[in-house]
Parts: sequence; C-alpha cells; structure tokens
Amino acid sequence: MAGRFITLEGGEGTGKSTQVKLLAEYLSAKGCEVLTTREPGGTELGAEIRKLLVCGDTNKMDATAEALLYFADRHIHLSQKIWPALENGKVVISDRFADSTFAYQCYGYGQRVKREVLEQLYMIAAGDFRPDLTIILDIDPRIGLERSFAKAQGEAVKELRFENQELRFHENLRQGFKEIAALEPQRCAVVDANRDIEVIHRDIAHIVHERLGL
Ligand code: TMP
Repeated sequence: MAGRFITLEGGEGTGKSTQVKLLAEYLSAKGCEVLTTREPGGTELGAEIRKLLVCGDTNKMDATAEALLYFADRHIHLSQKIWPALENGKVVISDRFADSTFAYQCYGYGQRVKREVLEQLYMIAAGDFRPDLTIILDIDPRIGLERSFAKAQGEAVKELRFENQELRFHENLRQGFKEIAALEPQRCAVVDANRDIEVIHRDIAHIVHERLGL
C-alpha cells in the first residue's frame, strides 16, 4: 500500500491522544496527507462496539467475548477506514491498535485469553498486515492512572473500565507492552512518557523521521 500506518500504544494516562494530535499536525505541516483514528471506535459502527467494551460493569462478558469484539471493531476499522486511506497514500495514525489487545487481553499480561488464540483472531481480522511503526508510550502506572482519573472527572460518559483494575494489572500491562517492543524492535519504539509534552513529541517526530523517512 502507498501510505504509512503508525500506531501509538501504552497503558492508561500515557498521553497518547495528545501525541497523536501533535504528530498529525507535524506531519501535515511537512506536506503529508494525514488521517487520525483510534481503537476501539474508529468507525461509526465501531463507536457502538466501543460503548459495549469500555462503559459500565466490568464483568458483563468474559475475556474471550471481549477479545472477539475488539477484533470485530478492528476488522471493520481496517476494511472501512484504514486500508482505503493507505491505498490513497495517506499517513494513518491510530490511537491504539492490536498491541493493546495483546497487552490487555492476553493471558499473562492482563486478562485471560491465550496468545495463540489472539494470533488466530488477528489473522482473521487483519491477515499479515502490520503497522509500519508503533510508538509505545511508557509510564509508571501510578502516574498514568492519576492522570486518567483526573481527565475522567470532566467527562460526561465515564470510561473507567480498565482504570478500575488493580495496580498489579497495570504493572503487568506495562511489562506486556515492553515485551512486545522487545520482540519486534524493527516495528516498535518505546518512548518515556513521563516528560514534558513537547519533549515527548520531538522524540516521536525524530523516530518517525529515522524509521519512515517522513
Ligand atoms: P483509550 O484509553 O485509548 O481510550 O482505550 C480504551 C480502553 O480500551 C483502554 O482501557 C484500553 C482498552 N483496550 C483493550 O483492552 N484492548 C484493545 O484491543 C484496545 C484497542 C483497547
């Protein structure tokens, strides 16, 4: 495909959304056609799936059902939005993608779905398609959760499904993302998210330039 696909990943309160916005502005100013999006909920239909996943009772479905919904959302997202944009030569920046499922839902990291099962679901939803670059924003979960709770105070619909999990879950999650980065160093870069917003942005812009030539 002609375009480039960049994903930003990380635990709660890492500042992904802010960095997606800054990166999009930076690349647009350099002349790229940029599309920003997010998971879950990057499409109209996906927004409905997002509500099922992140609002309300934590125990309303098991981890397998949850993983299936994340991949349903992902398949719709890819086929309706991401792949067409890449075919048109756009730079697509997504606030979360499949690494979030491996970190949050996978057995050993966060919840209870086996890695092999998630890999099968990935093949069904996305085939051998992968992001060109994944930035993993890393922060001590105690700091991330504090930020996340502070942000939720001002929101009408509270999405606190995962923020309400115990600290241990978030520490596993952080470890999960680091392991993913270590397994795929060509695709992934870990960035320290406990710094000034502008400093983090400059780091990300530098990585995007080095790795993708943008
Ligand atoms: P957000 O924090 O980026 O808005 O994402 C919403 C929540 O969804 C967040 O708590 C992480 C969770 N999530 C998963 O558990 N698995 C996934 O595959 C994705 C994309 C998100």
